Amino acid sequence: SATQGSLTSLTVVENAEGGEGAGGGKEEELPVEEVVQPSEEWQTLKPGQAVPAGSHVRLNLQTGQREVRLGEEQLKYWTQNHRCGPRVTPDSYRLGAAESLASKFLPLEELKRDMAQLELLVETDFQIMKRLLEQLNSSGSTVEQKLSVLLELEYLVHQVDNAQSLCTMGGLELILQGLNSSDVRLQESSAFVLGSALSGNPVVQVKVVESGALQTLLTLLATSKPLKVKKKVLFALASLLRHFPYAQRQILSHGGLQVLSELFRADEGGVLRTRIVTMLYDMISEKVHKTERVRQYAAVSLQAELLEKGWCILVPQLLESTEHDDREKALHALLVMAPVCLEQYRLNSSLLGSLLSLRDQYQGMVQTEMVLGEEHGYFAEILELIDALQVQVK
Ligand SMILES: *[C@@H]1O[C@H](CO)[C@@H](O)[C@H](O)[C@H]1NC(C)=O
Ligand SMILES: *[C@@H]1O[C@H](CO)[C@@H](O)[C@H](O)[C@H]1NC(C)=O
Ligand SMILES: *[C@@H]1O[C@H](CO)[C@@H](O)[C@H](O)[C@H]1NC(C)=O
Repeated sequence: SATQGSLTSLTVVENAEGGEGAGGGKEEELPVEEVVQPSEEWQTLKPGQAVPAGSHVRLNLQTGQREVRLGEEQLKYWTQNHRCGPRVTPDSYRLGAAESLASKFLPLEELKRDMAQLELLVETDFQIMKRLLEQLNSSGSTVEQKLSVLLELEYLVHQVDNAQSLCTMGGLELILQGLNSSDVRLQESSAFVLGSALSGNPVVQVKVVESGALQTLLTLLATSKPLKVKKKVLFALASLLRHFPYAQRQILSHGGLQVLSELFRADEGGVLRTRIVTMLYDMISEKVHKTERVRQYAAVSLQAELLEKGWCILVPQLLESTEHDDREKALHALLVMAPVCLEQYRLNSSLLGSLLSLRDQYQGMVQTEMVLGEEHGYFAEILELIDALQVQVK
């Protein structure tokens, strides 16, 4: 028999009893784990199915399922065995009863060690990304295939290490090419991957700024693109700027605030406005923190930009929204902008009235919150913001 020494021989156990019926009853009594016998052809793995050590496992992107086929070593064994031995079909290779398990398999620890050595059982994230990037880079891939690759990448780059691998493997260039694609779906998905890779990842933030992508992102926002694309591009831009003063200075010198204020004005439906104001708020409030510590940072003419691009007039508009979240973001931004914008706030005859009416509304809601046992709830927070602003505008 083929069990001595060879690792690959572990993978097959001939069912000595032969036919289907013979072992049947016995197998039902025993909790024998199902082990799939790979062949030269790829076959789909069902959940819970195991494969022998040395098998080649891959993820099928079309179906999202794992597939198995014989590994290199196994293939050698397979062909040798099939040349020398009696003709057997893959079906005749299957797990037998408990005795066969005990006598023909190596002890579990030994098996595990061998598996680890072979490292063939599971594709690592790195290997998956390499394969995905090859598919993305292939001229033979269809747009649909590329979209599904981007979706997988977006999932993987949430992990800090994976996002950094993306850069070292040359994937960033491919994503940036995707942003420049003539297909808006590829643009949208590429921006999504970029935003996720950038989120909380300083190493990637630096790489992306160095690549000059900031200009590409701003250009996408400044040109007529579908809303879906702009949303994802804004996401990428916000992730790039977050906690990253260098990129924040860059966006100022690239005329970014102008682009954003135009986008705010054009966004009739108001879908992007909250995101834009949130970004603005992040930038200003970070700058406020920074200027307390680092004097030179104040050189950035963010304040002048706020006035010049009309933000003091634009942001109050967001208070008109019926969404609590929008109002909260607007209030935060209005407060942090107050040192620059106060004069303009006061010139707006309806702003104080709006604040007072919002105040009434939220006071009622805070009462309800307290009845429900929330001492310092969300609405109480909004009420505090309104009060703080109202005191200044009065
Ligand atoms: C994409 O393909 C080009 C040319 O075929 C090659 O130079 C480049 O290194 C590839 N990039 C990646 C990330 O595979
Ligand atoms: C994308 O297009 C812009 C201008 O249209 C160009 O400057 C940039 O190099 C392009 N990026 C890539 C990766 O092709
Ligand atoms: C004045 O404030 C209101 C919100 O209360 C806002 O809708 C409006 O656009 C503002 N007008 C100007 C000129 O700032």
